[in-house]
Amino acid sequence: MSKKIFSGVQPTGNLHLGNYLGAIKNFVNLQNEKENQCIFCVVDLHAITVKQDPKELKKNIRETAATFIACGIDPAQSIIFNQSMVSAHSEAAWILSCVSKIGWLNRMTQFKEKAGKDKEKASIGLYSYPVLMAADILLYDATHVPVGDDQKQHLELCRDIAQKFNNDFNAPDFLKVPEPLIQKQFSRIMSLKDGIKKMSKSDPSDLSRINLTDNKDEIFNKIKKAKTDPLPLPEQAKDLAKRPEAENLLGIYSSLKNQNLEISVSEFSGKNFSEFKEKLSEALTEIIEPISKEIKKLLNDEKYLDTILLEGSDKADKIASKKIKEMKELVGF
Ligand code: AMP
Ligand code: TRP
Repeated sequence: MSKKIFSGVQPTGNLHLGNYLGAIKNFVNLQNEKENQCIFCVVDLHAITVKQDPKELKKNIRETAATFIACGIDPAQSIIFNQSMVSAHSEAAWILSCVSKIGWLNRMTQFKEKAGKDKEKASIGLYSYPVLMAADILLYDATHVPVGDDQKQHLELCRDIAQKFNNDFNAPDFLKVPEPLIQKQFSRIMSLKDGIKKMSKSDPSDLSRINLTDNKDEIFNKIKKAKTDPLPLPEQAKDLAKRPEAENLLGIYSSLKNQNLEISVSEFSGKNFSEFKEKLSEALTEIIEPISKEIKKLLNDEKYLDTILLEGSDKADKIASKKIKEMKELVGF
């Protein structure tokens, strides 16, 4: 059955291995199941929920589009577009925020993490961020939303919002309730410096992540410096339970090789980390280096990237403006 796929990535710089293995790689697989209709959005409205430098933001919007293409998303087959160019997103977000409950948003763990200790100083946008995300998805009648594990709660909220709108306005099935697509394994890639912290764009240490723009030397150096423990690699996957760094590195290797964790564990069982790190760096270089080179090449052609985003936004706007019009009618506008 054909699926309608929608997903978004924030143009906040430092796109990394976690973004690739947790999300973008899956976007490409879904696109390549030919009958699917895929829409991938550079979510710049989400990016400004925390302060951005306007010049950097502009650069990061192009870089995110370049990363999509370099990873294998084909603009002739999928829509690649820029959220702020389609005004229906902001309009739908407002309407949906009027059916969403404060109690629902209060449960969102990502807000708590991002706002930190001083919640009073966080922007209202950061708080209502998941409602905008629901608008993104619901405007396109998306049936499936591929994301990393950290977005699971936001997708559950999106489902609740869709059902509440349909109920409130007596419009069964008007907003389609989407299914999350979260990989069973390796949906949460951890920091190279701390196996219990998520690999993240905003970690101040560049050594904590493999960026999708890293070259071979950077990859080898970061893996060499990645945190491990003093034991040799285990004989069984269950022995990884209290060894988060070893588990993460073996998980990355398995994901890159498209193989089960158990197979990677048996490949390196009893070996020391230096031997494994060599193989891991090679596997990373094989996948990341071509992406990195392609991103850099594409970034030299701003006109091309701008055209892709403009054409994609035109296509997205056709779909979204029809849906927002119907939504406004239901509301009574
Ligand atoms: P963001 O960079 O926050 O816009 O995230 C873009 C996509 O990458 C989302 O689907 C996230 O769930 C996914 N993602 C971000 N960080 C990680 C990570 N460390 N491991 C797995 N997926 C991730
Ligand atoms: N909140 C997502 C993230 O940080 C990005 C996002 C925005 C998104 N809108 C979306 C993901 C719609 C999937 C669908 O990763």
